[in-house]
Amino acid sequence: MSLDEVDTPALLIDLDALEENIRRVANAVHGTSVRVRPHAKTHKCPEIARRQIDAGAVGLCCQKVSEAEAMVAGGVQDVIVTNEVVDPRKLGRLVSLARRARIGVCCDDPAAVDILEGAAAAGGVTLRVLVELEVGGNRCGVRPGADAVALAELIDAKPHLSFVGLQAYNGPAQHLKTIGERRASTAEAVENVKQTLEQLARAGLGCETVGGAGTGTFRLEASSGIFNELQVGSYVFMDADYARIGGEDEGPFSDFDHSLFVLTAVMSVAAQDWAVCDAGTKSVLLDRGMPIVVDRPDLAYVAGGGDEHGKLMLGAGAGPKLGDRLRLIPPHCDPTVNLHDWFVCYRGHTVEDVWPIAARGGMF
Ligand SMILES: Cc1ncc(COP(=O)(O)O)c(C=O)c1O
Repeated sequence: MSLDEVDTPALLIDLDALEENIRRVANAVHGTSVRVRPHAKTHKCPEIARRQIDAGAVGLCCQKVSEAEAMVAGGVQDVIVTNEVVDPRKLGRLVSLARRARIGVCCDDPAAVDILEGAAAAGGVTLRVLVELEVGGNRCGVRPGADAVALAELIDAKPHLSFVGLQAYNGPAQHLKTIGERRASTAEAVENVKQTLEQLARAGLGCETVGGAGTGTFRLEASSGIFNELQVGSYVFMDADYARIGGEDEGPFSDFDHSLFVLTAVMSVAAQDWAVCDAGTKSVLLDRGMPIVVDRPDLAYVAGGGDEHGKLMLGAGAGPKLGDRLRLIPPHCDPTVNLHDWFVCYRGHTVEDVWPIAARGGMF
């Protein structure tokens, strides 16, 4: 099938770009002891997870138990849920996953240690647990240092829990505009993790995994000598928000190629100043700015179209015609993926495959 035959709106993957992005992260750690554990929150798709593992990833991260279920069902054998899970319903499902795969989960509270131990004991499994550190994310996580060590000791003392390491994701650092700002923020996080590791060692606790990093900072964590697992997510797709941050040498961030697009068609040119396409906010999320219209500098996607309408302001030139097909680069890949049932995967101009977004809508 040709790309021209695909109905719109549709979520496209350019396979050449996707494969190249996966290769680039694999190459970045080649020959080092740093492992890649990509985040499945971005793609929610076992087909992509399998390609990441084939390129050397040791397993996947997930944010939700339902994502972990989709990954394990798709054949992924090693998953860390980089999130706190304390609800008994969710823990029951996590424990049953732990009978089929290696499952890790995060913890940031002494009370949660008891909850995790109770669930693991009831299910007859050992859960692998990471202490989540607050290193700039301003959401979950204990303070680095003594609090983290005390929590690790509690976990270590439980018969059905195994303390495996630290989770230290510095989310806000990822989209800081300059590499200098990202370097400074990451250096601070690295220092906090380093001090915690030293205190853990003094308490006699080893740390198999020190995980964190995203697309904007992964090279910094990789070369820190402290982190040994990279949780890069958006790199597979490289959304428009990441295209707006700066790279090395004050140029744009060009570590990855755009591989994810929303294919849309123009359905109205009745207005003088704008055209309307069929990709509104049910097809592309606008929480991080506007999509880029590929190869059409004369068209600017703007807010205010609606759920099913995308508004394209007209610049110089003849403007689009009814039925013209456009590719949009989504501003924020993860929640845009979550709006769609499948990826239409193409190479050149030919559709090669259709991959279900297995964990789409999985919020539990
Ligand atoms: C815990 C965690 N790790 C890794 C990532 C991946 O970050 P990115 O998509 O910027 O690569 C995220 C993204 O939100 C995250 O929440």
